[in-house]
Amino acid sequence: MNRQEAAIKAREMLSRMTTEEKVAQMIQIPYAQEGREASLRWAKLGVGSFLHVLGDDAREIQAAAAESRLGIPVLFGIDAIHGHGLNEHATIFPSQLAAACGWEPEILREMGEVTAREVATDGLHWTFSPVLCLGRDTRWGRVDETFGEDPYLAGELGAAIVEGYQGKDLADGEHILACAKHFLGYGEAVGARDACDSEITARKIREVFLPPFRRAVEAGCATFMTAYGSADGTPFTAHRGVLKDMLRGDLGFSGFVVTDWNNTDSLMANQHVAADIGEASAMAAHAGNDMIMATPAFYEAMLQALREGRADIADVDEAVVHILTIKYEMGLFDRAEKLGRPGCIGCEAHRQAALRAARASVTLLRNDGMLPLSDGVKRVAVIGPNADDIRAQYGDWTYFTHPLPIPGRPAIRPYVTVKEGIEALCAEKGVECEYVKGCGVLPEADDDIDAAVRAAKTADAVILVVGDMIDQFGEYKDRANLELSGRQPELFARLKETGVPVCTVLVASKPLCLGDAAERANAVLCAFNGGMYGGQAVAEALFGALNPSGRLPITFPRHSGQLPVYYNQLPGWHGGKYCDLPAEPLFAFGEGIGYTGFEMKGFAFSPEDMTLRLTVANTGERAGTQTVQVYFRDMVSSVMTPVKRLIAFRRVALEPGEAKEVAIPLRREDFALVNAAGERVVEPGAFQLMVGASSKDTDLTVLPFELT
Ligand code: NOJ
Repeated sequence: MNRQEAAIKAREMLSRMTTEEKVAQMIQIPYAQEGREASLRWAKLGVGSFLHVLGDDAREIQAAAAESRLGIPVLFGIDAIHGHGLNEHATIFPSQLAAACGWEPEILREMGEVTAREVATDGLHWTFSPVLCLGRDTRWGRVDETFGEDPYLAGELGAAIVEGYQGKDLADGEHILACAKHFLGYGEAVGARDACDSEITARKIREVFLPPFRRAVEAGCATFMTAYGSADGTPFTAHRGVLKDMLRGDLGFSGFVVTDWNNTDSLMANQHVAADIGEASAMAAHAGNDMIMATPAFYEAMLQALREGRADIADVDEAVVHILTIKYEMGLFDRAEKLGRPGCIGCEAHRQAALRAARASVTLLRNDGMLPLSDGVKRVAVIGPNADDIRAQYGDWTYFTHPLPIPGRPAIRPYVTVKEGIEALCAEKGVECEYVKGCGVLPEADDDIDAAVRAAKTADAVILVVGDMIDQFGEYKDRANLELSGRQPELFARLKETGVPVCTVLVASKPLCLGDAAERANAVLCAFNGGMYGGQAVAEALFGALNPSGRLPITFPRHSGQLPVYYNQLPGWHGGKYCDLPAEPLFAFGEGIGYTGFEMKGFAFSPEDMTLRLTVANTGERAGTQTVQVYFRDMVSSVMTPVKRLIAFRRVALEPGEAKEVAIPLRREDFALVNAAGERVVEPGAFQLMVGASSKDTDLTVLPFELT
């Protein structure tokens, strides 16, 4: 059923509903918090949705909902954000940030498809993914959930995963609803402190933060989630201008909006713009929130506010139609429990997809020739806190970090840590391998740096795996200091003293300030949170079985005080740097190398046909993939514009010695800015295209042109 037909059915249903049933339909109950008994009562009352409930528990709730007067099926939502991770049997993909390193929409599409199939097979309908916030001040605890710092890249990858989740037919039993979140500006909170006010203007919202969400709407994203925070003092939960005018009016969104966790209560309790829960409930509904997550008190409060004339039934009617429309479109009334593919959760084919994504995410940042490890390497020392820590490798939003109460179900899915990946390849090649942890991410009683040094001294190569741990990232866990924590810097220094080459591998939620562990390392490889096969992909890259092709979707600062250090800033003119730090970041947006060389030449662009043409050649001796990155700058404009902005990219796979001609179509509107009146316009005049292998000026060829 298409959305228009579904909306007609939704209105018919609305006409049969009591006020109580309508308000209940707006509610989403947190199963684990409410408990089984209360949840069953809510289901019989006819609430619209539950979150964080799996398998048999979900089936029981659905059966209870069928006993409600109208028997409207419940919609189940879950945070399946890099795989159906809260089910401990599921396939775990790299985090969004790690997956973004591939700059490969197809990888994200596949990640969405696989995740959807596993979620649907669990009887659920909806994932709270993707995160389309930008990771610009990386002290924020949730940078791992973003696609990095760039609006264009985030939009392209976000659209791909939305299409993967939702497929072509939401009712086919294999696809689920996506949810673009957090609308809006959540990543831009003051000081990167989670859920604080965002220092963003209406113009900046349209220019920087809205574009990825616009792409999600274009990709058909069925649901949106309201951010916790506020802009200029107005909580997004109460922001009708953003939720109605911008989202439905300007972007043309026709799905439904869910609040984030307990946002409605927060209008009163945390943000102090409502005097009581009744006022908060009326405010949330009026602003354009259709579904109320995790505020069960909304039910009584909204009913009372309606009785007292403090709330408008028209707001409720509109919300209920939005929700029911999606339920009809999904075919829930015909078959509430989708079939999925029995046996597919964590199956071999799905795990292969996770391996593909992990391989695409591996990003080599420095290499003095140490990598790939040569045949002369007969003994490898694997050291470091994250070499053999699957929790660190999985990252946030998995069974480890958000355990659901499912007694007696052992975690059985396979995984490969970096240490295990290296051991397996060493065994194949007859190379000896010794693992010593050395120290924890945070100081631990059994830290033994001396033992790590002893292992390093007898080795031909040291692989040091550093990073962060779940106590240092996630919601509520912003960091003031991104330097490597605990004794990790000391561990690197001591290993380096041995004179044995050291490759630093980063298994972490975000770019850390690696200091010497990057500047003095012989090689640096970034893996972020690579998921179940992250360790295997890293090992393959170390030994050269994989030619790494990742490119950074986010800048690495040298020092926490250098933040924010994202590449697409507005120009300054007093040096734009701190007097005690180099101007450049540690690693730039778009950076990444491999085991072959590339050349880009023969550039041509004319605004008449709007097609950029160039030749990309593989000048080395290995097959590899280069990512052509296209940036632009508006040379004179009515408002200041960034020093450069990504507008296109293209991955090009090349055999040794091969050259390919590449044509990248651009559109005039790619060169738009948002003017002081908030309009998106292209201002005629001089522009520069900048084309190359990363956002660094030294990697870019400048092509000036004029738009009339
Ligand atoms: C709060 C988080 O901000 C959001 O991303 C998540 O989807 C919801 N909780 C539900 O778990």
